[in-house]
Amino acid sequence: MNWKLPFDIPLVTPTMGIPMEFYDALGIIVFIVHISFIYVLIGASTASVIYNIMGAVTGNKNYDKLAYKMTNPTTISENMGALWGVAPLLIISVLYTGFFYTAILKVSPHILHIVYGNIFAFLLSYAYKFSWHALENSKGFHIAIGAVAVLTFYTLPPVFLSMANLYLQPETFSYIQNIWDIMLTPLTGFRLLNFFLTAFAFSGVFMIWYGMRLQKEGEVEVGELAVNQGKKWFLFATPVNVAILPLILFVFSPRIAEALMGTLFILLPFLASFVLVVLYIYLLKRWDQDTFSKKELASVISLMLLSVALMATARHGIRVVSFEEPLKLQAEATQSYMEASLGEYKKYKESLKNAPARDLDDPAVLADEKGCMGCHSIDTHLVGPAFKDVANKYASSSEFVNSILQGSEGKWGEVPMPIQGVSQTEAHKLAEWVMSQK
Ligand code: HEC
Repeated sequence: MNWKLPFDIPLVTPTMGIPMEFYDALGIIVFIVHISFIYVLIGASTASVIYNIMGAVTGNKNYDKLAYKMTNPTTISENMGALWGVAPLLIISVLYTGFFYTAILKVSPHILHIVYGNIFAFLLSYAYKFSWHALENSKGFHIAIGAVAVLTFYTLPPVFLSMANLYLQPETFSYIQNIWDIMLTPLTGFRLLNFFLTAFAFSGVFMIWYGMRLQKEGEVEVGELAVNQGKKWFLFATPVNVAILPLILFVFSPRIAEALMGTLFILLPFLASFVLVVLYIYLLKRWDQDTFSKKELASVISLMLLSVALMATARHGIRVVSFEEPLKLQAEATQSYMEASLGEYKKYKESLKNAPARDLDDPAVLADEKGCMGCHSIDTHLVGPAFKDVANKYASSSEFVNSILQGSEGKWGEVPMPIQGVSQTEAHKLAEWVMSQK
């Protein structure tokens, strides 16, 4: 038989009869939660280091306080972001198994950086947070710890996005050799720029919310500073982002770009950009305002989340469109694999049927058929003794015929012979045949 190993088998996705749209929606929702935390992680950790430096340089205590405050959302987002990141990854790995794992193989072992890079940055950012007061008098060293943590966090999205871009484009598998081949492409570059700008804008909105909370808790000055700075983060990060968002569509491979053209998904990045422009104007009008009413705050947060949701849906739309054809090819390959291996099996069964009936009256054939030759041969010791040696040892076959019927132990060595499935007549015939091997 020509065995096929499991990794040769192209399998279709088992969905348990649940419509694909359910998995699509689930994927989008968990991704929005995950990416929101990641945005805050990137933004808050960066902000904390920047304000720590500004506090040290200007001597303004409020910067220092704000920097310290920002370590809380950093560590919370670290944990939540990583935890929620497992869900979209698993969903993708189930929906697009073959493509996902091929991409993982192509970018290995660098993909592991997401794990050990994360752990390293995690530990450093905790050290940064909890050594805040102890290192009050060695600010330079303390800031360095925070900066290394932040820079390490920055190295994770390039690895991750490279893998994500690769599995989206199975047509590139043949020539992408390793992670650099996909990391150093316009697609990854554009998406990274978009990622970081969105992270900073999102964190700006987060700081506005956080600042209002601080003000409510009585920390008015730091709160006002947070709101003021948050606005700036958003306003500085957004213009370039608005400009590049729709462009991202066009750096995908022509196959994906073309397939997107015919769908409504193509509108989503434009809509996301539009929402960002509205929020931009809204915040620009409040340039000098350091407190927000409840209603204003709700509008700002809703608009930001809306644009993130639109982008997440667009991202998933690209996936759906991109995989339509590859998944069809995979289903066809599965079908023909099944047919081929079933055909092979049937052929094998046929060949057994058509084989000439073996002459079991011939004791040599009988010995083969009964499996004796698995342990014995005529003239060499295998598991059991050579039949020649057996014949030479005994004077008559009656001396050992019972061994064939009931098994034998201790006569030829350590290994016993189990009971053999043979009848009395067969045993006698085999024993005589063994005896004739002298
Ligand atoms: C699982 C391996 C195995 C199979 C299958 C097997 N044998 Fe044996 N056979 C042995 C071993 C081991 C011994 C030695 C046992 C001992 O030391 O007493 C042995 C011993 C013998 C002996 C010598 C017995 C004696 O009393 O000295 C004969 C004859 C023999 N086998 C015949 C057969 C025949 C015929 C078959 C098929 C029906 C068969 N064997 C199948 C392992 C096997």
